[in-house]
Parts: sequence; C-alpha cells; structure tokens
Amino acid sequence: MSERAGVTLEGVTKRYDNGLQALDAVDLALPAGSFTSLVGQSGCGKSTLLRIIAGLVAPSTGGCRRGGGTPAFVFQEPALLPWRTVDGNAQLLMELEDWTPAARRARAAEVLTQVGLAGFGHAYPHELSGGMRMRLSLARALALRPDLLLLDEPLAAVDELTRDLLQEQLSQLWQDAGFTGVLVTHNVHEALFLSQRVVVMAPRPGRVVQVFDVPFPFPRAPELRASPAFAALAGQVSATLRASTILRS
Ligand SMILES: Nc1ncnc2c1ncn2[C@@H]1O[C@H](COP(=O)(O)OP(=O)(O)OP(=O)(O)O)[C@@H](O)[C@H]1O
Ligand SMILES: [Mg+2]
Repeated sequence: MSERAGVTLEGVTKRYDNGLQALDAVDLALPAGSFTSLVGQSGCGKSTLLRIIAGLVAPSTGGCRRGGGTPAFVFQEPALLPWRTVDGNAQLLMELEDWTPAARRARAAEVLTQVGLAGFGHAYPHELSGGMRMRLSLARALALRPDLLLLDEPLAAVDELTRDLLQEQLSQLWQDAGFTGVLVTHNVHEALFLSQRVVVMAPRPGRVVQVFDVPFPFPRAPELRASPAFAALAGQVSATLRASTILRS
C-alpha cells in the first residue's frame, strides 16, 4: 500500500502566459486523510490551485509536495462517455490501468453501490439525472481507490435537496475510504458541512485570506445544518467572503 497523500503548498504563485497573476504566495498544508474546502469569488484561483495540487498545472514559483499514492479529479462537467453504459463508464480508469475484466467488473459493482447506482449498470448517461451523472463520475474516480480526491464544484448543477443528500453520501464515503479530500465550492454551507477546514480565497491576485477550522465531529447529521453553531460559523465565513469580494463594472 502506498503512503497516503497529504499536500503541502509553499509560496505557490501562478502567472499565466497572458500575464495574469492567478495565485500569489499560497501556503497551505493539507494533512493526509483531511477534508478541506476552497471557497471564494469567481476568478480567485480555486481551479488553478486544484490543478496545481493535481499536477496538471505547474506553479510559476514555489512548490507543491504531494505524498505518494493515486490522485483522482472530479470536474464540474461529469465528462462521461455517452456511448458507454454506466458500468462501462465506471470501469474506464481501471481499463486504462490494465485491470483484468473480472476485477474491473467486481470493483465497478462495488463503487456503483457505494454511490447509490446499483441496478443502473446497463443504463446510458443520457438516461440519468444530473445528480446521478455526478455520482457516476464520482464512482469512476473512487474505483482506483485514490489517496487524494480533488473535486471542482461537483454539486453546482444539482437541486438543493439532492445536493444535501449527495453531500451526506460524499461525507460518508470520505469517512469510510479515508482519502485526502479537497473540494472547490461556491456554497459556504456545503463547504462547512463536508470539511474539517474551509479556506477562504480572494481575487486579484488570487490568495488565501483566512482558514476556518470546522469543529463539528463526524459523522455529521443532516440536522447539523440547522443548528445555531453551524449558522454562526456560516455567518463568519460569509462575512469574510463578502469583505474580500471585489465588484467590477
Ligand atoms: N489557462 C489560462 N490562461 C490564462 N488565464 C487563466 C487560465 N486559467 C485561468 N485563468 C485566469 O486565472 C484566474 C483564476 O482562474 P480560476 O479558474 O483558477 O478561478 P476560479 O476561482 O476557479 O473561478 P470560478 O469560481 O469562476 O471557477 C482567472 O482570472 C482566469 O481568467
Ligand atoms: Mg473554477
């Protein structure tokens, strides 16, 4: 078994070729097995930071160290293959890794059950709801037992009730599987419900303005969202976000 993947970012800056300073001096340590959310105004560099952690984009200066193990990325658009069934999509990454057909089938059945898609193996993506497509995308990522799961606004396009249910499933998956999770979201309640820490970022240049610890123990019941302590913390995070938001004409 590989060492679990914690992430350390030190003095990370990113300037794109067009001169845009997307990130400035980001220092963050994400312990192995932790769950962290990144929130902040559009354009503050959240996706850029996630791509740097994934190794898809190189920082301009500074460093990103990642413990050993497999990273997996879930994009906002599920990026499923429309000509493949749910089962075929769930097996995709295992095929690329040369798993045997029997091992692929067994693992696909396992992860589809975990995300609540057992019984949909023969369906095609266009026959699924948005929330189901997102869960399939998550199942595909989980199949390889990633040590690090990077999620870029995976729940942005689903209705509020489904979103709450998916948050609860995702939290349970994280508690069971023990991967290091990093979630980008615009939703403060979602960030708080899922995370041990919430990182508030601000734009121009993209940077970290404050890191909030979220003290509520796991497993977190759905009712936590309605508690005064949760509302109070959400209020603090929202106020920090508002104070760092720039309105442009
Ligand atoms: N490949 C690129 N080339 C040039 N500029 C880029 C590139 N990718 C992103 N940017 C710019 O870098 C800044 C940060 O972009 P990024 O996508 O990281 O923001 P974000 O916080 O994820 O925003 P959103 O919430 O809208 O997804 C933006 O100003 C964006 O225009
Ligand atoms: Mg983004």
